[in-house]
Amino acid sequence: MSNLVRITREQDVAVLTIDNPPVNALSTDVRQAIREAIEQADNDNSAAAIVLIGAGRAFVAGADLHEFQKITSSASQRIPELMRLVERIEDCRKPVVAAIHGYAFGGGMELAMSAHYRVASPSAQMGQPEVKLGIIPGAGGTQRLPRLAGVAKAVEMCSLGAPISAAEALQLGIVDKLMEGDGDGGLLAKAVAFAREAVGKPVRKTRERNEKLAPNAAVFAAARDSIRTKQRAPRAALAAIDAIEAAATLPYAESRQVEQKLFNECLFSDESKALIHAFLAERELAKIPGIPKDVPAIPINRVGVVGAGTMGAGIAMVFANAGLPVVIKDVDQAALDRGLATIQKNYANSVKRGRFTQQFVDERLRLIRPALSYDEFADVDIVIEAVFEGMTFKKEVFAVLDGVCKPGAILATNTSYLDIDEIASATKRAQAVLGTHFFSPANVMKLLEVVRAKATSKEVIATCMQLSKKLGKVGVLVGNCRGFVGNRMFALYRREAQFLVEEGADVQAVDKALYDFGMALGPLSVADLAGLDIGWRMRKEFRHLQKPGVRQPFAEDRLCEMGRYGQKTNAGWYKYDENRRAIPDPEVTAWMRQWAAEAGIPQRQISAEEMVERCIYSMINEGARILDEGIALRAGDIDMIYLNGYGFPSHRGGPIWYADTVGLKKVYDRICEFYERHGELWEPAPLLEELAKDGKGFADFSCERAVPV
Ligand code: 3HC
Ligand code: NAI
Repeated sequence: MSNLVRITREQDVAVLTIDNPPVNALSTDVRQAIREAIEQADNDNSAAAIVLIGAGRAFVAGADLHEFQKITSSASQRIPELMRLVERIEDCRKPVVAAIHGYAFGGGMELAMSAHYRVASPSAQMGQPEVKLGIIPGAGGTQRLPRLAGVAKAVEMCSLGAPISAAEALQLGIVDKLMEGDGDGGLLAKAVAFAREAVGKPVRKTRERNEKLAPNAAVFAAARDSIRTKQRAPRAALAAIDAIEAAATLPYAESRQVEQKLFNECLFSDESKALIHAFLAERELAKIPGIPKDVPAIPINRVGVVGAGTMGAGIAMVFANAGLPVVIKDVDQAALDRGLATIQKNYANSVKRGRFTQQFVDERLRLIRPALSYDEFADVDIVIEAVFEGMTFKKEVFAVLDGVCKPGAILATNTSYLDIDEIASATKRAQAVLGTHFFSPANVMKLLEVVRAKATSKEVIATCMQLSKKLGKVGVLVGNCRGFVGNRMFALYRREAQFLVEEGADVQAVDKALYDFGMALGPLSVADLAGLDIGWRMRKEFRHLQKPGVRQPFAEDRLCEMGRYGQKTNAGWYKYDENRRAIPDPEVTAWMRQWAAEAGIPQRQISAEEMVERCIYSMINEGARILDEGIALRAGDIDMIYLNGYGFPSHRGGPIWYADTVGLKKVYDRICEFYERHGELWEPAPLLEELAKDGKGFADFSCERAVPV
């Protein structure tokens, strides 16, 4: 018998403990072990009942996603059969009780629903989150959940994927009883006693319980309408509804087949492969070559923020939300007051929208202390500098911080583009200097680029990576170069969007093409939102680095010269009304045509396909360089940056994953065409060329080749 499932006895009750750390995922071996243990316990006449429980911190978090990834990327297409296992459990002749603590998600929830009874600790969470991975429950979840919780709740849970608490599960009838205690710490003994009470009562097979199964055409129709309007990639959510409708209208033997068919179709879809990649890539981020998990982190108990502008105010909120006291400094009282007013306004909006309670907000506001003097930074453990973008400002601030802050305090900059090594050179503690690049609005956006400079110590990196988790951010370690990973690639995406307009495309057509591809907003709308002046200033600062004779976009510079900075001036690529609604501006179109004629740029019809290729492939080409230089550790790290900071559609997995989906040969060939037509800005990256010529993908590129950052 495998040690993945232990069988022990509590007198007449057989206890089956699933033990597959960290979260008891249902790999092939675990499923096999459960099956053998169930057979043994069911056939053991001296056992009157069975308790199924998880070891460690959870019942079961679901099917093994590493295994799904292997299956869908191989030719064999052998899908693990969990369906027959849950039916075998349900067919046991003696009562089976699932004892749930931690999580029962996906296949774990399906396993639990096949037991005859479920008990749970009050802190447990349950759910069918498969839809977030582009699949549907594949082991009877769409068949048993409506029988336990009713059709409407099952539709909601399977099509949206949000978990429910144990208390709600009890109220819905999914769980039979709540019991204090986790796992071995009390829950097991109580579950055993519960199982003993069930001995002698007829076993209740969930698949035969039809009392809550009434089909409800209105529920299905409303759910489908809502999914179609809200989700950009609705395949899995719609399939989940179809499978529940089948459960409500067909005999079980037929409807289970419907679920299986839909599950298989979803599992092999591009959306699901991309979403599972994203889930696993996010978990890889914490694994940093050369920095083992046991590198000690520096305790962070007090925080300083320099600059109470757009970013500084948001960053102060991020730390306060995590319960950390923050001192925030600006140059004068007026600037501080503006920053604090922004913070208060943002919190008030959160209370209005029901995200936070007033009490929570009051507590957070008490954690934020305004200051006009650097003396207040003497005892902070980390400072985030968020003053104007400009090397001179930053170096001045860092020199002062170095003198004021206690030894060992981390000095971090929120710069978007500047060289962190040069900033560090203003201090005598380069090992404690790094970039923490938050995204706007900092209190909302999940991404945090942690930028490692030459001298940054392992402890400082480990601290900031762990801190990112505490702050609720997705921290991605990147190397030091202009724009780091995200902005360096995005600059090319935005450049191409401008070129397209300069070559004759409509502003709205460019935005629509990229929106239809799945981006949260089109590139020109994003530019208006962020402020056209930011890029304008940046281009002026770095103009000396431009190669003479190489084409540069001019459209946004011209708009800025006219005072059109985007939403903040009610005009940019679009005009904006008092509700910040974008209105197409025919004047912009006329100017573009005039400026293009003056610059001698031939005008032509450009297809939506080319618009997408130009914008996305330019990023992919740069991504290949970034990987080759070791600025990103893994292809998946770049994808995480794009999914969490740039509105890239998660169902496409990120730009690098997407490139592999299209096929690198195809991407490379098209880039070569652009190179021929548009010149050196499109020179193919050597890594892209190499992989394409070898018939490989970015997934074949190993991070060991990356220069250690
Ligand atoms: N398969 C494989 N590994 C998994 C896993 C899974 N389903 N769920 C979590 N893990 C691994 C993670 O990769 C990570 O590994 P690492 O330590 O090597 O990096 C480890 O477990 C811990 O995960 P987290 O870092 O995410 O830990 P948290 O405590 O933050 O969250 C969790 C735990 C809430 C369980 C979260 O991991 C989660 O949401 N997991 C996925 C749940 C899910 O989607 N289940 C459905 C799977 S599909 C399915 O069951 C299909 C079925 O219908 C047939
Ligand atoms: P901002 O102009 O809104 O705010 C800067 C603030 O710093 C002002 O309040 C100013 O008074 C203050 N300041 C200037 N010198 C100071 C000093 N010596 N001491 C204390 N305060 C000082 O700028 P924003 O947009 O917040 O940007 C800050 C930094 O964050 C920049 O480096 C920028 O590149 C970066 N960043 C900006 C993003 C954005 O979308 N705005 C996104 C990510 C990074």
